[in-house]
Amino acid sequence: MVLFGKMGWLPAALFSLFLIFSSHFSPSIVGDTLTPARSLTDGQELISVGKKIVLGFFSPIKTNNRYVGIWYKISPSTIVWVVNRRQPISERNGSLSITANGTLIITDHNSKTIWSSGSLGLANPVAQLLDDGNFIVKEANVSGSFAWQSFDYPSDTLLPGMKLGWNLTSGLNRNLTSWISPSDPAPGPYTMAVDLHGDPQMILWEGSDWLWRGGPWNGKIFSGIPDMLRYNIFILAFVMKNDEVFYMYNTTSTSFIVRVTVNYTGVVQRLVWIDDSQMWSIYMSEPKDQCEHMTQCGAYGICNMDDSPICSCLQGFKPRSPTNWNLRDEKDGCARMTELDCRSRTDGFVTIKEVKLPDTSRSTMDRSMGLDECRATCLRNCSCTAYASADVNGTGCIIWTTELTDIRVYSFGGQDLYVRLAAADLGPGSDHSHSRTIAGIVVGFVVGILLFVSVGICTWIKRRRAGAIPFAGHRNNKCKERKDWELPLFDLGTIIAATNNFSIKNKLGEGGFGPVYQGKLGEEQEIAVKRLSKTSAQGIDEFMNEVMLIAKLQHRNLVRLLGCCTQGEERMLVYEYMPNKSLDTFLFDKDKAALLDWQTRYNIIEGIAQGLLYLHRDSRLRIIHRDLKASNILLDEDMNPKISDFGLARIFRGDETTLNTQRVVGTYGYMSPEYAMDGVFSVKSDVFSFGVLVLEIISGKKNRGVSISEHEGNLLAHAWSLLMEGNGLKLVDGSISNSISMVVVLNCLKVGLLCVQEHPKDRPTMSSVVLMLGSKNASLPDPKHPGFFPTRASSEVESSKSKKELDSINKLSVTIVEGR
Ligand SMILES: *[C@@H]1O[C@H](CO)[C@@H](O)[C@H](O)[C@H]1NC(C)=O
Ligand SMILES: *[C@@H]1O[C@H](CO)[C@@H](O)[C@H](O)[C@H]1NC(C)=O
Ligand SMILES: *[C@@H]1O[C@H](CO)[C@@H](O)[C@H](O)[C@H]1NC(C)=O
Ligand SMILES: *[C@@H]1O[C@H](CO)[C@@H](O)[C@H](O)[C@H]1NC(C)=O
Ligand SMILES: *[C@@H]1O[C@H](CO)[C@@H](O)[C@H](O)[C@H]1NC(C)=O
Ligand SMILES: *[C@@H]1O[C@H](CO)[C@@H](O)[C@H](O)[C@H]1NC(C)=O
Ligand SMILES: *[C@@H]1O[C@H](CO)[C@@H](O)[C@H](O)[C@H]1NC(C)=O
Ligand SMILES: *[C@@H]1O[C@H](CO)[C@@H](O)[C@H](O)[C@H]1NC(C)=O
Ligand SMILES: *[C@@H]1O[C@H](CO)[C@@H](O)[C@H](O)[C@H]1NC(C)=O
Repeated sequence: MVLFGKMGWLPAALFSLFLIFSSHFSPSIVGDTLTPARSLTDGQELISVGKKIVLGFFSPIKTNNRYVGIWYKISPSTIVWVVNRRQPISERNGSLSITANGTLIITDHNSKTIWSSGSLGLANPVAQLLDDGNFIVKEANVSGSFAWQSFDYPSDTLLPGMKLGWNLTSGLNRNLTSWISPSDPAPGPYTMAVDLHGDPQMILWEGSDWLWRGGPWNGKIFSGIPDMLRYNIFILAFVMKNDEVFYMYNTTSTSFIVRVTVNYTGVVQRLVWIDDSQMWSIYMSEPKDQCEHMTQCGAYGICNMDDSPICSCLQGFKPRSPTNWNLRDEKDGCARMTELDCRSRTDGFVTIKEVKLPDTSRSTMDRSMGLDECRATCLRNCSCTAYASADVNGTGCIIWTTELTDIRVYSFGGQDLYVRLAAADLGPGSDHSHSRTIAGIVVGFVVGILLFVSVGICTWIKRRRAGAIPFAGHRNNKCKERKDWELPLFDLGTIIAATNNFSIKNKLGEGGFGPVYQGKLGEEQEIAVKRLSKTSAQGIDEFMNEVMLIAKLQHRNLVRLLGCCTQGEERMLVYEYMPNKSLDTFLFDKDKAALLDWQTRYNIIEGIAQGLLYLHRDSRLRIIHRDLKASNILLDEDMNPKISDFGLARIFRGDETTLNTQRVVGTYGYMSPEYAMDGVFSVKSDVFSFGVLVLEIISGKKNRGVSISEHEGNLLAHAWSLLMEGNGLKLVDGSISNSISMVVVLNCLKVGLLCVQEHPKDRPTMSSVVLMLGSKNASLPDPKHPGFFPTRASSEVESSKSKKELDSINKLSVTIVEGR
């Protein structure tokens, strides 16, 4: 054996004794250094002085291949470096040794060299494993400089003190490349590297394409990772010198165990080892959302996750292809409304605040210039399209002379970008405070128009029914407002026949604005008819609102409107019939609850999320439902959920994110605090209601809304306390507790609680919710306490009276009160 040859007889004999007497799996430790006289064989380990870091042979999961690697001595051990990534050893008799002139080599059982570090020509070499995870080769009696170090050849992990970037003299490019899979450490498709073109940027590559752009360094952080500084245990540095360009980080204490890893799944993660829970906690993960996709909004587009759609054009630009933009394909970007006029010197700049700077790979950067000089330089150069400070302290100048791509808005930590526009496009909108008021006026105007149009349709339909329309011809007779809004108009006689003259037997329930009946059109088609009650005067607007809205919506998780019927005082909506009725009839019924096993409940949660995402973002309109609750979730024959009842829904336009209403309508228990108390609603109020629904679906208990003193009545507070105590599973409905998947339930519970957080800005958007529900790795942040949390009781007492009123009116599914 190689071992015997290298180690001499005595140590080898001791070693084999050791093997005999120790457990088969526990390796022997041979200090922290290798010399030409002492090599490392499979089964032995080097351990650093501080006992934090280990070097040895290992097999990844699901394979017997042997690799030499370095790992953190934690459990489960985390591999941070692999030597022979591409050259696995098939049997457990490999060895790592250092030659007399300082070359590290790995040999297999045939003593064949399968990997070598390259010859160094040292006289008296040693290899040593250091406490920071670096494995180095140096002259034995020389301190300080290393002839070779593993830190120069990273695998997929960046440890504190490692350089990610370039030695410009030697051309050495240190980058992180993912494993192919958890069982194959060979280089996979994802690489994180510093790109030197233009103003250097941190880039995540997928093969030869850019997947994600961390952006240029702005003196403190990379422009594309605004939350890099959020955790104060890290010290970050980006060094740009004549002979070196690299990124490096360190921790404030060597006791932290941290790493940055390019995962084989294509995400870059910053992870911190939490000793108490014995697991890695994810402190950063990129790319994190749709706006991170570099081509999402095209040239001169700007991405904002809080907007719907997420892409818009920079001020002074319009979609290059409006058709594609309407179809949510924004990749071809935007074009100038007015061409620049360089010669007349009338061009100016609009400030785009708090953004990720556009791609700098073709821009120029001058560290010595200030912002004023930067602006002047840009104005002088006719091909300059934008400029920005290179450093957050206001120094340095980046100048773009190409199209501006991959810009996104951040709520904090972004930088100001100055985009060049022709004088004609430099509207008052360059001032943000102005644009808010304008948006407000526009929304008011749009709502006005909406009401006007509704009334118009109403009269139009009234006139129309004068010429009695036979049901047989309903396909040719449409409730037609515009080309894109067509809906069959049903004859009252048909509906009467279908519902046995609105027989009590056919009544399904009482909806927001009147009773709902089951019916049958001809032999085949089952329908549900919603009959607007004659007494409900306010209902007319809402009725037309619903007709208009839902006629345009199509999604498999929204209930489908088949037509409408208006005759005399009657106003009716005809829907597809949902044989399983509404979710509440299962959820809150002792016997039927057991029919909803966990898988079904999970599908329902996912379906509602998809439907809501469609309303918020993907439909051609941007719609807030405002009355999401268990009784408005209908179930088809396969228990697929469909959101219904759009009577209270509102369309949002443009860049508007919140609206204020005088009339607070909705259902108590599902209403977000800001809406119930201040009448402020946004997509985040729907997210809140969704969160309540999720918790109800998991627990099978109804959220009775606010209860100031007792813990018990408030499902949200109860759920939150259980999760925080680590008892989340106790919330699960007893009738399904044997069908659950613990990980998925806890994930759902966390998502639900994130949705009901008190502050709207803390709640995720529905697109994040869909992502979180889909992701199996439980790396979600801890939810803050939910809205209406009992500890805030004192501040809520004053408005408790109106809440009591709300609660009592809640017997009806809709409450209507005057807002403050
Ligand atoms: C390698 O080790 C295995 C056991 O681990 C042994 O069966 C095999 O004979 C060895 N091969 C050589 C060439 O030494
Ligand atoms: C180092 O030693 C190896 C053999 O052990 C030899 O092939 C190589 O040429 C040597 N390199 C130098 C620089 O001496
Ligand atoms: C290294 O230095 C020590 C003491 O300074 C000395 O005893 C030893 O012989 C030296 N080793 C070599 C290989 O020069
Ligand atoms: C860059 O590489 C050259 C050649 O290998 C080396 O001499 C130099 O020390 C390296 N520079 C740095 C800063 O490590
Ligand atoms: C990563 O580094 C390797 C080795 O230096 C180099 O061959 C490769 O091109 C680099 N990849 C990128 C994307 O920079
Ligand atoms: C701004 O930051 C750069 C490097 O980040 C530094 O060189 C420069 O001195 C700073 N300037 C001021 C005015 O602080
Ligand atoms: C990192 O910080 C530790 C102290 O926390 C310090 O001992 C070490 O030298 C630093 N490493 C680098 C590369 O700056
Ligand atoms: C990569 O991600 C998967 C799934 O999130 C996780 O299980 C795995 O531990 C990660 N690998 C590394 C090296 O971080
Ligand atoms: C404008 O800037 C670009 C990029 O810096 C440069 O290549 C070009 O020469 C400049 N043109 C003029 C007229 O200065």
